[in-house]
Amino acid sequence: GTVVLAYSGGLDTSCILVWLKEQGYTVIAYLANIGQKEDFEAARKKAESLGAVKVFIEDIRAEFVQDFIWPAIQANAVYEDRYLLGTAIARPCIARRQVEIARREGAQFVAHGATGKGNDQVRFELSSYALYPEVKVLAPWRIPEFFNRFKGRKDLLDFAAKNGIPVPVTPKAPWSIDANLMHTSYESGILEDPKCRAPADLYVMTRNPEDAPNTPDVLEVEYKNGVPVKVTNVNEGKSKVTPLEIFSYVSDIGAKHGVGRIDIVENRFIGMKSRGIYETPGAHILFNAHLDIELFTMDKEVRRIKQGLGIRFSELVYNGFWYSPECDFVRACIAMSQANVEGKVELSIFKGQVNILGRSSPKSLYNEELVSMDVQGDYDPCDATGFIRINAVRLREHHRLQGLSSKK
Ligand code: ARG
Ligand code: SIN
Repeated sequence: GTVVLAYSGGLDTSCILVWLKEQGYTVIAYLANIGQKEDFEAARKKAESLGAVKVFIEDIRAEFVQDFIWPAIQANAVYEDRYLLGTAIARPCIARRQVEIARREGAQFVAHGATGKGNDQVRFELSSYALYPEVKVLAPWRIPEFFNRFKGRKDLLDFAAKNGIPVPVTPKAPWSIDANLMHTSYESGILEDPKCRAPADLYVMTRNPEDAPNTPDVLEVEYKNGVPVKVTNVNEGKSKVTPLEIFSYVSDIGAKHGVGRIDIVENRFIGMKSRGIYETPGAHILFNAHLDIELFTMDKEVRRIKQGLGIRFSELVYNGFWYSPECDFVRACIAMSQANVEGKVELSIFKGQVNILGRSSPKSLYNEELVSMDVQGDYDPCDATGFIRINAVRLREHHRLQGLSSKK
């Protein structure tokens, strides 16, 4: 049969490519350019030299921003209060193009190099089954003939040497890295000890906040329907307007100032806790600016419901259910809530911090006259007396009765 392999260019998926051929499969290599730093042409040559019959290098950065990062920003998506889901939202984007290629090329199989202990296997495979129900999945790290043969990195290196797989000369970092336009994540290796500090040279995307410039960058981010439509560097007067340019620019500014680093222990879907380090400079800024313009323009009670949907959305995405009826439903509700989330937020980015400086909006629900301490507005302060007394009914009863029973 023919298999479309999600190929990264690295050691693991190179060995998987050759091994799949050994097992009799015709292998098509698919390498998604989702914003990771990679020599894509070198990776193409490598896959060809290893015997892939076709190699597809697909630039999916723009759709990653529009179809995945923007909905996450609209949702204020954050898993377990801190993780902005940079790997989790990339998987359905990568898998979507993979099954498109598999269908087009008449391949019955898709394969990936995720381990059997993680979230990514779940995300890749649920996405593949949803979008290509007849597909068969090959996950070599769960196939005994594969994982018994490749027990450690040394076995991979030996196999590479025997099969002419070029191995990078730079020594491999002692942790696992997953990188895209939105974030870089680090786990396993020496990081498995949760009290072990991340070495200062771990981070590839952001500058250490201590080494960041001594002058802030001031950005104005304009939102429409809850997504950024323009970003302006206020000091320089330069603007970006396409989704990919906006996101890339804000990421660069965040990286320059050391914004968006976190170190957490999180709950994987499959039941274990794992330690992860993440840097998410651009989304961290856009997330904070979005929170601000949303609060400024959205009705209080709508916001409370929407906040709960955002948590549900984050869990669905983390667990790999992007292409599920419940996630479609939640995304549609969230998108609807964003109709009036419109306006401009000014913020400063400085030494790892994002500080909101001000906001303006044609759809604002803020009424300066109503809230002013100096003007009466359409409001009678005498009404507050009854409002407070009615709210106090329950509190007085509670304390009166509690007080009586404790005296008994
Ligand atoms: N724990 C993160 C998640 O589940 C990242 C997983 C991939 N990271 C890696 N370094 N391979 O979304
Ligand atoms: C992996 O297991 O391949 C990476 C970690 C994860 O998916 O959670």
